[in-house]
Amino acid sequence: MAPGTTTEHEADQRQPFVVLGVSAGIAAYKAVELCRRLVDAGVHVAPVLTERATRFVGRATFDALGSEKTQMSVWDEVSPIPHTRLGQSADVVVVAPATADLLARYAAGMADDLLTTTLVATAAPVVVCPAMHTEMWEHPSVQDNLATLVARGVHVVPPEDGRLAGGDVGSGRMAEPATIAAKVLEILALTPPGKANHSQGNAAGSEDRAQDLAGLTVVISAGGTREAIDPVRFITNRSSGKQGHALADAARRRGAQVVLVTTSAQPRPVGVEVIEVETAAQMEAAMVERASGADVVVMAAAVADFRPKEIHDVKLHKSDGIPELILEPTNDILAELGRRRRPGQVLVGFAAETHDVHERAAAKLAAKGVHLMVANDVSAPGVGFDHDTNEVTLLGADGTSTVVPLASKSAVADAVWDRVCTLLATE
Ligand code: CTP
Repeated sequence: MAPGTTTEHEADQRQPFVVLGVSAGIAAYKAVELCRRLVDAGVHVAPVLTERATRFVGRATFDALGSEKTQMSVWDEVSPIPHTRLGQSADVVVVAPATADLLARYAAGMADDLLTTTLVATAAPVVVCPAMHTEMWEHPSVQDNLATLVARGVHVVPPEDGRLAGGDVGSGRMAEPATIAAKVLEILALTPPGKANHSQGNAAGSEDRAQDLAGLTVVISAGGTREAIDPVRFITNRSSGKQGHALADAARRRGAQVVLVTTSAQPRPVGVEVIEVETAAQMEAAMVERASGADVVVMAAAVADFRPKEIHDVKLHKSDGIPELILEPTNDILAELGRRRRPGQVLVGFAAETHDVHERAAAKLAAKGVHLMVANDVSAPGVGFDHDTNEVTLLGADGTSTVVPLASKSAVADAVWDRVCTLLATE
Protein backbone atom coordinates (compact mmCIF):
# COMPACT_ATOMS: atom_id res chain seq x y z
CA MET A 1 0.00 0.00 0.00
CA ALA A 2 1.46 3.33 -1.03
CA PRO A 3 2.16 5.81 1.73
CA GLY A 4 -0.47 8.48 2.01
CA THR A 5 -3.46 6.40 1.00
CA THR A 6 -6.73 6.62 2.89
CA THR A 7 -6.15 3.23 4.42
CA GLU A 8 -2.96 4.40 6.07
CA HIS A 9 -4.85 7.05 7.97
CA GLU A 10 -7.75 4.75 8.73
CA ALA A 11 -5.27 2.65 10.68
CA ASP A 12 -5.55 5.25 13.44
CA GLN A 13 -8.97 6.79 13.08
CA ARG A 14 -8.93 8.65 16.36
CA GLN A 15 -6.35 11.13 15.08
CA PRO A 16 -7.62 14.43 13.72
CA PHE A 17 -6.49 14.97 10.12
CA VAL A 18 -4.87 18.26 9.08
CA VAL A 19 -3.68 19.19 5.61
CA LEU A 20 -0.67 21.48 5.97
CA GLY A 21 -0.36 23.61 2.84
CA VAL A 22 2.95 25.37 2.25
CA SER A 23 3.30 28.04 -0.43
CA ALA A 24 6.41 29.78 -1.71
CA GLY A 25 7.62 32.23 0.92
CA ILE A 26 10.72 32.40 3.04
CA ALA A 27 8.51 31.67 6.08
CA ALA A 28 8.14 28.13 4.68
CA TYR A 29 10.98 27.17 7.02
CA LYS A 30 8.65 27.90 9.95
CA ALA A 31 6.09 25.47 8.51
CA VAL A 32 8.58 22.72 9.37
CA GLU A 33 8.21 23.55 13.05
CA LEU A 34 4.44 23.88 12.68
CA CYS A 35 4.33 20.39 11.17
CA ARG A 36 6.35 19.04 14.07
CA ARG A 37 4.16 20.75 16.66
CA LEU A 38 0.94 19.41 15.17
CA VAL A 39 2.30 15.87 14.92
CA ASP A 40 3.51 16.11 18.53
CA ALA A 41 -0.02 17.17 19.53
CA GLY A 42 -1.37 13.91 18.08
CA VAL A 43 -2.55 15.26 14.74
CA HIS A 44 -2.21 13.31 11.48
CA VAL A 45 -0.48 15.86 9.21
CA ALA A 46 -0.62 15.55 5.42
CA PRO A 47 1.89 18.05 3.94
CA VAL A 48 1.03 19.63 0.59
CA LEU A 49 3.71 21.86 -0.96
CA THR A 50 3.44 24.05 -4.02
CA GLU A 51 6.19 23.51 -6.62
CA ARG A 52 7.79 26.85 -5.82
CA ALA A 53 7.71 26.22 -2.05
CA THR A 54 10.48 23.68 -2.62
CA ARG A 55 12.80 26.58 -3.49
CA PHE A 56 12.63 27.45 0.21
CA VAL A 57 12.22 24.07 1.94
CA GLY A 58 12.84 20.50 0.90
CA ARG A 59 10.12 17.96 0.35
CA ALA A 60 12.20 15.39 2.24
CA THR A 61 11.95 17.46 5.44
CA PHE A 62 8.16 17.21 5.43
CA ASP A 63 8.33 13.55 4.38
CA ALA A 64 10.35 12.89 7.50
CA LEU A 65 8.29 15.01 9.92
CA GLY A 66 4.75 14.66 8.56
CA SER A 67 2.43 11.71 9.06
CA GLU A 68 2.41 10.80 5.39
CA LYS A 69 4.43 11.49 2.28
CA THR A 70 4.48 15.07 1.03
CA GLN A 71 2.32 15.70 -1.99
CA MET A 72 2.77 18.40 -4.59
CA SER A 73 0.82 17.45 -7.65
CA VAL A 74 -2.64 16.18 -8.51
CA TRP A 75 -0.84 13.60 -10.62
CA ASP A 76 1.79 12.11 -8.31
CA GLU A 77 -0.25 9.88 -5.98
CA VAL A 78 -1.50 6.35 -6.53
CA SER A 79 -4.99 7.58 -5.71
CA PRO A 80 -6.42 9.14 -8.88
CA ILE A 81 -8.00 12.09 -7.05
CA PRO A 82 -5.69 13.16 -4.19
CA HIS A 83 -7.29 16.60 -3.75
CA THR A 84 -10.69 15.00 -3.14
CA ARG A 85 -9.21 12.58 -0.63
CA LEU A 86 -7.33 15.37 1.13
CA GLY A 87 -10.29 17.76 1.04
CA GLN A 88 -12.75 15.19 2.38
CA SER A 89 -10.44 13.70 4.99
CA ALA A 90 -9.35 17.03 6.41
CA ASP A 91 -10.70 18.28 9.72
CA VAL A 92 -8.72 21.47 9.11
CA VAL A 93 -6.66 22.76 6.18
CA VAL A 94 -3.97 25.22 7.28
CA VAL A 95 -1.87 27.19 4.79
CA ALA A 96 1.39 28.48 6.27
CA PRO A 97 2.82 30.53 4.78
CA ALA A 98 0.05 31.89 2.57
CA THR A 99 1.68 34.17 0.01
CA ALA A 100 -0.07 37.06 -1.76
CA ASP A 101 -0.25 34.87 -4.84
CA LEU A 102 -1.78 31.92 -2.98
CA LEU A 103 -4.39 34.17 -1.32
CA ALA A 104 -5.31 35.65 -4.71
CA ARG A 105 -5.67 32.25 -6.35
CA TYR A 106 -7.73 30.88 -3.43
CA ALA A 107 -10.00 33.96 -3.30
CA ALA A 108 -10.59 33.69 -7.04
CA GLY A 109 -11.46 29.99 -6.75
CA MET A 110 -8.57 28.98 -8.99
CA ALA A 111 -7.55 25.35 -8.72
CA ASP A 112 -4.34 25.08 -10.69
CA ASP A 113 -2.22 22.97 -8.34
CA LEU A 114 -2.78 20.39 -5.62
CA LEU A 115 -2.96 22.93 -2.79
CA THR A 116 -5.50 25.27 -4.38
CA THR A 117 -7.50 22.31 -5.69
CA THR A 118 -7.64 20.89 -2.16
CA LEU A 119 -8.72 24.29 -0.80
CA VAL A 120 -11.56 24.51 -3.30
CA ALA A 121 -12.53 20.85 -2.76
CA THR A 122 -12.75 20.93 1.04
CA ALA A 123 -15.69 21.69 3.32
CA ALA A 124 -13.38 21.67 6.38
CA PRO A 125 -12.41 24.85 8.24
CA VAL A 126 -9.46 26.57 6.54
CA VAL A 127 -6.80 28.65 8.30
CA VAL A 128 -4.53 30.93 6.28
CA CYS A 129 -1.36 32.44 7.70
CA PRO A 130 -0.28 35.31 5.43
CA ALA A 131 3.42 36.08 5.10
CA MET A 132 4.89 38.72 2.82
CA HIS A 133 6.65 42.06 2.70
CA THR A 134 4.89 45.00 4.37
CA GLU A 135 4.19 46.75 1.06
CA MET A 136 2.55 43.62 -0.31
CA TRP A 137 0.62 42.96 2.91
CA GLU A 138 -0.79 46.50 2.84
CA HIS A 139 -1.67 46.41 -0.87
CA PRO A 140 -5.44 46.75 -1.43
CA SER A 141 -5.52 43.66 -3.64
CA VAL A 142 -4.15 41.50 -0.83
CA GLN A 143 -6.50 43.03 1.74
CA ASP A 144 -9.49 42.62 -0.62
CA ASN A 145 -8.66 38.98 -1.24
CA LEU A 146 -8.34 38.39 2.47
CA ALA A 147 -11.68 40.13 3.12
CA THR A 148 -13.30 37.85 0.53
CA LEU A 149 -11.90 34.79 2.26
CA VAL A 150 -12.93 36.01 5.71
CA ALA A 151 -16.46 36.64 4.43
CA ARG A 152 -16.51 33.00 3.33
CA GLY A 153 -15.59 31.85 6.83
CA VAL A 154 -11.86 31.31 6.35
CA HIS A 155 -9.84 31.82 9.55
CA VAL A 156 -6.82 34.12 9.41
CA VAL A 157 -3.82 34.04 11.71
CA PRO A 158 -2.54 37.53 10.95
CA PRO A 159 1.11 38.29 10.40
CA GLU A 160 3.17 40.00 13.05
CA ASP A 161 5.61 42.90 13.05
CA GLY A 162 9.27 41.96 12.87
CA ARG A 163 12.25 41.21 10.69
CA LEU A 164 11.44 40.31 7.11
CA ALA A 165 13.50 38.74 4.35
CA GLY A 166 16.33 41.00 3.18
CA GLY A 167 16.68 42.65 6.59
CA ASP A 168 13.61 44.91 6.35
CA VAL A 169 11.51 45.38 9.44
CA GLY A 170 7.73 45.75 9.35
CA SER A 171 4.38 44.03 9.33
CA GLY A 172 3.99 40.87 7.28
CA ARG A 173 6.10 38.33 9.12
CA MET A 174 4.23 35.05 9.47
CA ALA A 175 2.86 34.33 12.94
CA GLU A 176 4.93 32.01 15.09
CA PRO A 177 4.36 28.25 14.62
CA ALA A 178 3.17 27.98 18.25
CA THR A 179 0.45 30.59 17.58
CA ILE A 180 -0.68 28.85 14.40
CA ALA A 181 -0.64 25.41 16.02
CA ALA A 182 -2.75 26.77 18.90
CA LYS A 183 -5.32 28.10 16.43
CA VAL A 184 -5.52 24.79 14.55
CA LEU A 185 -5.87 22.82 17.78
CA GLU A 186 -8.52 25.24 19.01
CA ILE A 187 -10.57 24.67 15.84
CA LEU A 188 -10.13 20.90 16.12
CA ALA A 189 -11.51 21.05 19.64
CA LEU A 190 -14.49 22.98 18.30
CA THR A 191 -15.24 20.27 15.76
CA PRO A 192 -17.76 17.79 17.14
CA PRO A 193 -16.08 14.61 18.41
CA GLY A 194 -17.60 12.40 15.69
CA LYS A 195 -15.82 14.43 13.02
CA ALA A 196 -12.57 15.32 14.72
CA ASN A 197 -11.77 11.87 16.00
CA HIS A 198 -12.89 10.18 12.78
CA SER A 199 -14.97 7.69 14.75
CA GLN A 200 -17.42 7.94 11.85
CA GLY A 201 -15.31 10.03 9.54
CA ASN A 202 -13.78 7.53 7.17
CA ALA A 203 -14.09 8.18 3.47
CA ALA A 204 -17.15 5.99 3.03
CA GLY A 205 -18.94 7.52 6.04
CA SER A 206 -18.47 11.11 4.93
CA GLU A 207 -19.47 10.15 1.40
CA ASP A 208 -22.74 8.68 2.75
CA ARG A 209 -23.42 11.76 4.86
CA ALA A 210 -22.49 14.03 1.99
CA GLN A 211 -25.59 12.97 0.07
CA ASP A 212 -28.05 12.02 2.81
CA LEU A 213 -30.42 14.91 1.95
CA ALA A 214 -30.37 14.24 -1.80
CA GLY A 215 -33.80 14.47 -3.41
CA LEU A 216 -35.25 16.51 -0.54
CA THR A 217 -36.43 20.10 -0.57
CA VAL A 218 -35.67 22.12 2.55
CA VAL A 219 -36.86 25.61 3.37
CA ILE A 220 -34.95 27.61 5.99
CA SER A 221 -35.55 31.05 7.48
CA ALA A 222 -32.65 33.13 8.81
CA GLY A 223 -31.91 36.46 10.47
CA GLY A 224 -33.86 38.94 12.54
CA THR A 225 -36.87 40.60 10.98
CA ARG A 226 -36.99 44.41 10.75
CA GLU A 227 -40.22 46.19 11.55
CA ALA A 228 -40.34 49.76 10.30
CA ILE A 229 -41.25 52.76 12.42
CA ASP A 230 -40.70 55.26 9.61
CA PRO A 231 -38.60 55.22 6.40
CA VAL A 232 -35.32 55.46 8.37
CA ARG A 233 -35.99 53.58 11.61
CA PHE A 234 -36.93 50.05 12.51
CA ILE A 235 -37.16 47.61 15.41
CA THR A 236 -35.02 44.50 15.17
CA ASN A 237 -32.98 42.08 17.28
CA ARG A 238 -29.42 40.78 17.53
CA SER A 239 -29.77 37.80 15.20
CA SER A 240 -27.03 37.77 12.53
CA GLY A 241 -28.44 34.98 10.36
CA LYS A 242 -25.12 33.08 10.54
CA GLN A 243 -26.66 29.87 11.90
CA GLY A 244 -29.49 29.90 9.36
CA HIS A 245 -27.05 30.45 6.49
CA ALA A 246 -24.81 27.66 7.83
CA LEU A 247 -27.84 25.35 7.88
CA ALA A 248 -28.59 26.23 4.26
CA ASP A 249 -24.99 25.68 3.22
CA ALA A 250 -24.76 22.33 5.00
CA ALA A 251 -28.07 21.11 3.54
CA ARG A 252 -26.93 22.01 0.04
CA ARG A 253 -23.63 20.24 0.64
CA ARG A 254 -25.56 17.15 1.71
CA GLY A 255 -27.53 17.11 -1.52
CA ALA A 256 -30.78 18.96 -0.69
CA GLN A 257 -32.51 21.53 -2.85
CA VAL A 258 -32.48 24.54 -0.55
CA VAL A 259 -34.63 27.65 -0.29
CA LEU A 260 -33.28 30.26 2.15
CA VAL A 261 -35.68 33.00 3.26
CA THR A 262 -33.44 35.56 4.89
CA THR A 263 -33.17 39.08 6.24
CA SER A 264 -29.43 38.72 6.67
CA ALA A 265 -26.53 40.32 4.81
CA GLN A 266 -24.36 37.25 5.46
CA PRO A 267 -22.76 35.73 2.33
CA ARG A 268 -25.26 33.79 0.22
CA PRO A 269 -24.46 30.07 0.27
CA VAL A 270 -23.60 28.87 -3.22
CA GLY A 271 -26.23 26.72 -4.94
CA VAL A 272 -29.06 27.88 -2.69
CA GLU A 273 -32.20 29.75 -3.80
CA VAL A 274 -32.32 32.92 -1.71
CA ILE A 275 -35.49 34.93 -1.03
CA GLU A 276 -34.71 38.24 0.63
CA VAL A 277 -37.30 39.56 3.06
CA GLU A 278 -37.36 42.23 5.71
CA THR A 279 -40.49 42.02 7.87
CA ALA A 280 -42.23 39.22 9.73
CA ALA A 281 -45.16 39.54 7.35
CA GLN A 282 -42.92 39.14 4.29
CA MET A 283 -41.16 36.19 5.90
CA GLU A 284 -44.48 34.57 6.72
CA ALA A 285 -45.72 34.94 3.13
CA ALA A 286 -42.53 33.41 1.69
CA MET A 287 -42.32 30.60 4.24
CA VAL A 288 -45.97 29.59 3.95
CA GLU A 289 -45.74 29.53 0.16
CA ARG A 290 -42.48 27.60 -0.10
CA ALA A 291 -43.08 25.26 2.88
CA SER A 292 -46.10 23.77 1.16
CA GLY A 293 -43.79 21.76 -1.13
CA ALA A 294 -40.97 21.12 1.34
CA ASP A 295 -39.81 17.96 3.06
CA VAL A 296 -38.12 19.87 5.89
CA VAL A 297 -38.83 23.36 7.21
CA VAL A 298 -36.48 25.09 9.64
CA MET A 299 -37.40 28.36 11.35
CA ALA A 300 -33.97 29.60 12.41
CA ALA A 301 -35.03 33.24 12.06
CA ALA A 302 -35.55 35.53 15.03
CA VAL A 303 -38.98 36.85 14.15
CA ALA A 304 -40.08 40.08 15.80
CA ASP A 305 -42.96 39.37 18.17
CA PHE A 306 -44.26 42.93 17.89
CA ARG A 307 -44.28 45.60 15.21
CA PRO A 308 -45.34 49.27 15.22
CA LYS A 309 -49.07 49.46 14.60
CA GLU A 310 -48.55 52.45 12.40
CA ILE A 311 -45.64 52.99 9.96
CA HIS A 312 -45.05 56.67 9.33
CA ASP A 313 -44.69 57.57 5.63
CA VAL A 314 -42.16 60.30 6.29
CA LYS A 315 -39.26 60.59 8.69
CA LEU A 316 -40.20 61.56 12.22
CA HIS A 317 -38.29 64.59 13.52
CA LYS A 318 -37.33 65.51 17.05
CA SER A 319 -39.22 68.73 16.59
CA ASP A 320 -42.42 66.68 16.19
CA GLY A 321 -42.00 65.55 19.84
CA ILE A 322 -41.40 62.06 21.24
CA PRO A 323 -43.46 59.65 19.15
CA GLU A 324 -45.85 57.33 20.90
CA LEU A 325 -44.97 53.86 19.69
CA ILE A 326 -47.98 51.58 19.74
CA LEU A 327 -47.07 47.96 19.00
CA GLU A 328 -49.17 45.09 17.73
CA PRO A 329 -48.27 41.39 17.69
CA THR A 330 -46.94 39.70 14.56
CA ASN A 331 -48.22 36.28 13.52
CA ASP A 332 -46.39 33.26 14.85
CA ILE A 333 -45.00 31.84 11.60
CA LEU A 334 -43.78 28.58 13.09
CA ALA A 335 -47.12 27.85 14.74
CA GLU A 336 -48.82 28.57 11.42
CA LEU A 337 -46.43 26.22 9.60
CA GLY A 338 -47.20 23.60 12.27
CA ARG A 339 -50.92 23.93 11.52
CA ARG A 340 -50.30 23.64 7.77
CA ARG A 341 -47.70 20.87 7.99
CA ARG A 342 -48.18 18.25 5.30
CA PRO A 343 -47.83 14.54 6.12
CA GLY A 344 -44.22 13.41 6.33
CA GLN A 345 -42.88 16.94 6.59
CA VAL A 346 -40.35 17.59 9.39
CA LEU A 347 -40.60 20.92 11.19
CA VAL A 348 -37.72 22.40 13.18
CA GLY A 349 -37.80 25.49 15.42
CA PHE A 350 -35.19 27.44 17.33
CA ALA A 351 -35.50 28.82 20.85
CA ALA A 352 -32.99 31.50 21.83
CA GLU A 353 -33.24 31.92 25.60
CA THR A 354 -31.27 33.50 28.41
CA HIS A 355 -32.78 31.56 31.34
CA ASP A 356 -34.85 28.42 32.00
CA VAL A 357 -33.63 27.44 28.55
CA HIS A 358 -34.78 23.83 28.39
CA GLU A 359 -38.14 24.40 30.07
CA ARG A 360 -38.97 27.29 27.76
CA ALA A 361 -37.76 25.50 24.65
CA ALA A 362 -39.74 22.37 25.56
CA ALA A 363 -42.88 24.47 26.07
CA LYS A 364 -42.44 26.05 22.62
CA LEU A 365 -41.84 22.64 21.08
CA ALA A 366 -45.21 21.45 22.31
CA ALA A 367 -47.08 24.69 21.64
CA LYS A 368 -45.89 25.07 18.05
CA GLY A 369 -46.29 21.46 16.94
CA VAL A 370 -42.68 20.92 15.80
CA HIS A 371 -40.58 17.74 15.73
CA LEU A 372 -37.35 19.31 16.88
CA MET A 373 -36.54 22.43 18.87
CA VAL A 374 -32.97 23.70 18.81
CA ALA A 375 -32.48 25.29 22.23
CA ASN A 376 -29.87 28.02 22.44
CA ASP A 377 -28.64 29.54 25.70
CA VAL A 378 -27.58 32.85 24.19
CA SER A 379 -26.23 34.12 27.51
CA ALA A 380 -23.32 31.62 27.37
CA PRO A 381 -19.94 32.79 26.00
CA GLY A 382 -19.42 32.11 22.29
CA VAL A 383 -23.03 31.02 21.86
CA GLY A 384 -25.77 32.40 19.64
CA PHE A 385 -26.18 35.86 18.16
CA ASP A 386 -23.40 36.96 15.83
CA HIS A 387 -20.81 34.45 17.08
CA ASP A 388 -19.13 32.05 14.64
CA THR A 389 -19.69 29.31 17.19
CA ASN A 390 -22.76 27.88 18.86
CA GLU A 391 -23.79 25.37 21.50
CA VAL A 392 -27.27 23.90 21.41
CA THR A 393 -29.49 21.20 22.81
CA LEU A 394 -31.67 19.33 20.34
CA LEU A 395 -35.03 18.65 21.99
CA GLY A 396 -37.16 16.10 20.18
CA ALA A 397 -40.95 15.83 20.36
CA ASP A 398 -40.24 12.18 21.27
CA GLY A 399 -38.68 13.37 24.54
CA THR A 400 -35.06 13.00 23.45
CA SER A 401 -32.47 15.61 24.36
CA THR A 402 -29.03 15.81 22.71
CA VAL A 403 -26.35 18.31 23.64
CA VAL A 404 -24.20 19.61 20.77
CA PRO A 405 -21.13 21.07 22.50
CA LEU A 406 -19.55 24.38 21.48
CA ALA A 407 -18.67 24.08 17.80
CA SER A 408 -18.58 26.13 14.62
CA LYS A 409 -22.04 27.05 13.31
CA SER A 410 -21.31 24.86 10.33
CA ALA A 411 -20.69 21.86 12.61
CA VAL A 412 -23.85 22.64 14.60
CA ALA A 413 -25.76 22.77 11.31
CA ASP A 414 -24.50 19.28 10.47
CA ALA A 415 -25.59 18.02 13.89
CA VAL A 416 -29.10 19.42 13.25
CA TRP A 417 -29.23 17.74 9.82
CA ASP A 418 -27.97 14.45 11.31
CA ARG A 419 -30.95 14.56 13.66
CA VAL A 420 -33.37 15.58 10.91
CA CYS A 421 -32.23 12.57 8.87
CA THR A 422 -33.21 10.21 11.66
CA LEU A 423 -36.57 11.99 11.99
CA LEU A 424 -37.19 11.70 8.25
CA ALA A 425 -36.56 7.98 8.49
CA THR A 426 -39.30 7.61 11.11
CA GLU A 427 -41.86 10.12 9.77
N1 CTP B 1 -41.23 32.30 15.63
C1 CTP B 1 -42.05 32.51 14.55
N2 CTP B 1 -42.86 33.61 14.51
C2 CTP B 1 -42.87 34.50 15.53
C3 CTP B 1 -42.02 34.29 16.64
C4 CTP B 1 -41.20 33.18 16.66
O1 CTP B 1 -42.06 31.70 13.63
N3 CTP B 1 -43.66 35.56 15.45
C5 CTP B 1 -40.39 31.10 15.64
C6 CTP B 1 -38.90 31.36 15.63
O2 CTP B 1 -38.41 31.40 14.32
C7 CTP B 1 -38.36 30.16 16.39
C8 CTP B 1 -39.48 29.80 17.36
O3 CTP B 1 -40.66 30.40 16.82
O4 CTP B 1 -38.16 29.05 15.55
C9 CTP B 1 -39.28 30.28 18.76
O5 CTP B 1 -39.05 31.68 18.72
P1 CTP B 1 -38.80 32.51 20.05
O6 CTP B 1 -38.60 33.92 19.69
O7 CTP B 1 -37.75 31.81 20.86
O8 CTP B 1 -40.15 32.28 20.84
P2 CTP B 1 -41.50 33.08 20.84
O9 CTP B 1 -42.55 32.21 20.20
O10 CTP B 1 -41.31 34.42 20.26
O11 CTP B 1 -41.85 33.16 22.39
P3 CTP B 1 -41.22 34.14 23.52
O12 CTP B 1 -41.52 35.53 23.07
O13 CTP B 1 -41.94 33.74 24.74
O14 CTP B 1 -39.77 33.85 23.61
